[in-house]
Amino acid sequence: MTQLHLLLISLYLLILSINFTKTIAQSPAPAPAPSGPTNVIKILKKAGHFKTFIRLLKSTQLDSNLNSQLGNTNNGLTIFAPSDSAFSTLKSGTLHSLTDQEMVELMQFHIVPMFISSSQFDTVSNPLKTHAGSGTRFELNVTTSGNSLNISTGLTNTTISNTVYSDTHLAIYQVDKVLLPLDVFTPKPPAPAPMLKADSPESDDAVSKKDVSTAVSFAMHHDTVLFLVGTVAAISFSL
Ligand SMILES: *[C@@H]1O[C@H](CO)[C@@H](O)[C@H](O)[C@H]1NC(C)=O
Ligand SMILES: *[C@@H]1O[C@H](CO)[C@@H](O)[C@H](O)[C@H]1NC(C)=O
Ligand SMILES: *[C@@H]1O[C@H](CO)[C@@H](O)[C@H](O)[C@H]1NC(C)=O
Repeated sequence: MTQLHLLLISLYLLILSINFTKTIAQSPAPAPAPSGPTNVIKILKKAGHFKTFIRLLKSTQLDSNLNSQLGNTNNGLTIFAPSDSAFSTLKSGTLHSLTDQEMVELMQFHIVPMFISSSQFDTVSNPLKTHAGSGTRFELNVTTSGNSLNISTGLTNTTISNTVYSDTHLAIYQVDKVLLPLDVFTPKPPAPAPMLKADSPESDDAVSKKDVSTAVSFAMHHDTVLFLVGTVAAISFSL
């Protein structure tokens, strides 16, 4: 055998043994408790009364995002977690009427991509930007009023009733109402009318661009013309 053969065989054996060790390591040992990165779902589970919120975070697959964001961002996260009783006071059918996309938005609306400690609400600038987006249809304001922290979305008024968890990069607050974003629960404004620019006076430049695009789209539908255009182009190139 040549040295190359020997090298290849030992590489092969090495790879085999690595895979084998991995399999051994994975199967019999009890899964070690996920240490290190903070696990949002674990914290909510421990609190005990966020079963619906947990279920929806999982079904929208936002749960894994949250944990990876906590690992990746320096800004941290603030989560407004509606209790199970918050969900039970929703008008029946509210959640069922949502599309998958709207459900994702509703969940994202409860997540602020920045750590806000309870004392920072005094100075935070409204509206807060949430994971669902910003702008008037995703308004989320937190105002302090005496001892209470009031939240307003334009559709929901509530107060933060409890701090579930807080360290230096993750804060989870309990809210006793589901925060409804205007964007999901009010009719959308009608889509803007298609742009018509027929009447606007066109400059020479615009006209020639239009002619070109007409020619191109014509060519796309007529292979012969396309061929001719190509031939002409080839000829003019070679001249
Ligand atoms: C804040 O919430 C409390 C309790 O619900 C209420 O009495 C108070 O009027 C609210 N303040 C503002 C500014 O909305
Ligand atoms: C939220 O705060 C902004 C800025 O103060 C204000 O313009 C807006 O009307 C508030 N919206 C709600 C729903 O409270
Ligand atoms: C929320 O509270 C504001 C005043 O703080 C009030 O004007 C508004 O009507 C309330 N909205 C709802 C949906 O209760």
